Amino acid sequence: MKRNKLALLVIVPILLFGTSKNIVHADVQNTPYNINFQIGTNVSEMRFTWLSPLNNKCELEIAKTSDMQNGQYPSNCFINGTTTAVTATESVQNKPTNQNKPTNEYSNKVTVDNLSPSTKYTYRVGDGTLWSQNYTFTTGNPTSGFSFAAFGDPQIGAFDNNKKSSLPHASLIDDENGWANTLNQVTKNHIDFLFPLGDQVNNYDDLATQQNEYKAFFNPSNTANYFQQYPIVELEGNHDHQMGTYYSYHYNQPNLSLLGQTMNSNVNNNDGDYWFTYGNVLFMILNANDAQDLAAHDQFMQEATSKNPNVKWKVAAWHQSAYSEASHSSGNAADDPIMTIRQNWPKLMDKYGIDVVLQGHDHEYTRTYQMYNGVPVNTTKTNSVTDPKGTVYLTLDSGSGSKYYDFKSTSDHTFSSVFWQQYVPSYSYITMNDNSFTINTYRTDTGASIDSYTITKTSTSTTNSTSNTSNTSTSQTVTTNPTNTSTVSSYNGSPSSSNSNSNQIQNPKTNDSSLNNTYLIYITGICGFIAIITAAIIFYKRKNLKA
Ligand SMILES: [Fe+2]
Ligand SMILES: [Fe+2]
Repeated sequence: MKRNKLALLVIVPILLFGTSKNIVHADVQNTPYNINFQIGTNVSEMRFTWLSPLNNKCELEIAKTSDMQNGQYPSNCFINGTTTAVTATESVQNKPTNQNKPTNEYSNKVTVDNLSPSTKYTYRVGDGTLWSQNYTFTTGNPTSGFSFAAFGDPQIGAFDNNKKSSLPHASLIDDENGWANTLNQVTKNHIDFLFPLGDQVNNYDDLATQQNEYKAFFNPSNTANYFQQYPIVELEGNHDHQMGTYYSYHYNQPNLSLLGQTMNSNVNNNDGDYWFTYGNVLFMILNANDAQDLAAHDQFMQEATSKNPNVKWKVAAWHQSAYSEASHSSGNAADDPIMTIRQNWPKLMDKYGIDVVLQGHDHEYTRTYQMYNGVPVNTTKTNSVTDPKGTVYLTLDSGSGSKYYDFKSTSDHTFSSVFWQQYVPSYSYITMNDNSFTINTYRTDTGASIDSYTITKTSTSTTNSTSNTSNTSTSQTVTTNPTNTSTVSSYNGSPSSSNSNSNQIQNPKTNDSSLNNTYLIYITGICGFIAIITAAIIFYKRKNLKA
């Protein structure tokens, strides 16, 4: 009898443990993942995106954190969005005849407007029944200045143990850890948003591999939720681009244009150019995978600058660097259009009076002199300029440590004021206000400064005031990208009674259901095995005692 009780004490908790874990397991499997949000047309708007394995409703619940009561949301703070089945094309470049294939994922997009400045919000995303955990973010107030962090290619999954790197770089986890370390360092300072400059992920030959890389990119840490806490500004690198439409389903860009879309094979509905304003700055994000179509980018910049004629600063950003100094610096292949961009795109920067260009792709750091008409304005090396002519072009080094390129001595370097490559992850911390732009770049191992550069404006108008010239070079029309189907809704912050669902899932790292499945199956199997062995021993001993 005593042994029977012992058997029950062993077996029952094990079975219960297994059962309750299986319930969590099912929820985790269907929980939203790759959650991120992006600054909208201006500071009062945020645009959310996440993926889910189920084709259910798309809902976001958001409230001022001060209006939350006992962890419950006020009523009337649901915002509905749109859910779209996700498709991808493996290897656009290598297998151009591939057709878009379903990914068994759904892209959810919601836009929230009427947000107040300098205010903390709590939100969660889901389908009305199954929710993510709660996250928080604090809106900026850029009228008095703001800061953001920029990185060269995180390129999660590019690990190659044969190449130079200061960090371990032999696995996806190594890349993930390097990325988390960089994000941890930059977020110790106040920042308004995170700005990776393309090639967020690496592999484009195998969808499942890139899916894992995206999960590592968006959730690289067990202890912090960077892209769920800070807005992202993103652009499309050549590695991101090669999975076709897949890139577009991960983000929710404001003012997204068809201009700048690539037109090769079946990815002509990839993302085009987009713009937004933050404070007194117009950001124009260009798709350099469409390097050849200068007329399209010209028309996009014409329209973006015309809609924002009074901004003090203009920043452009794209992936493939015009003025790089490492292995890509003389590339001219169709998939590496450095020389095409160097030859043609600076004309647009001159035409529209762009102050600063941010770029990636070459996995090294280069700061040019102020450039105008394709040549340096002045070759005196300096860390600060006042009311300068022309544009400074910055190429940023790897943000994760996954991959670097070597300095190429045989290519042109006449444009370069500062070059740095120590095979160490780095980041740039940028501060802007009405009168100044400062970029400070740091190495992540020692925290030491790599470079600092400040542009000061003393006049009330843009210094590069050659913009808004009429554009007669193209007749293309800007329309909304059909893949960007989010619904714009308003949140007025009105609190009332609770209307929450308690079915919350705490953040598992990357929400990777395959890892969780494996773990839970393993645990359940072990417990079951122990239970059977224990019962067999007790049964055998009882039988022997009776005998
Ligand atoms: Fe790259
Ligand atoms: Fe690249």
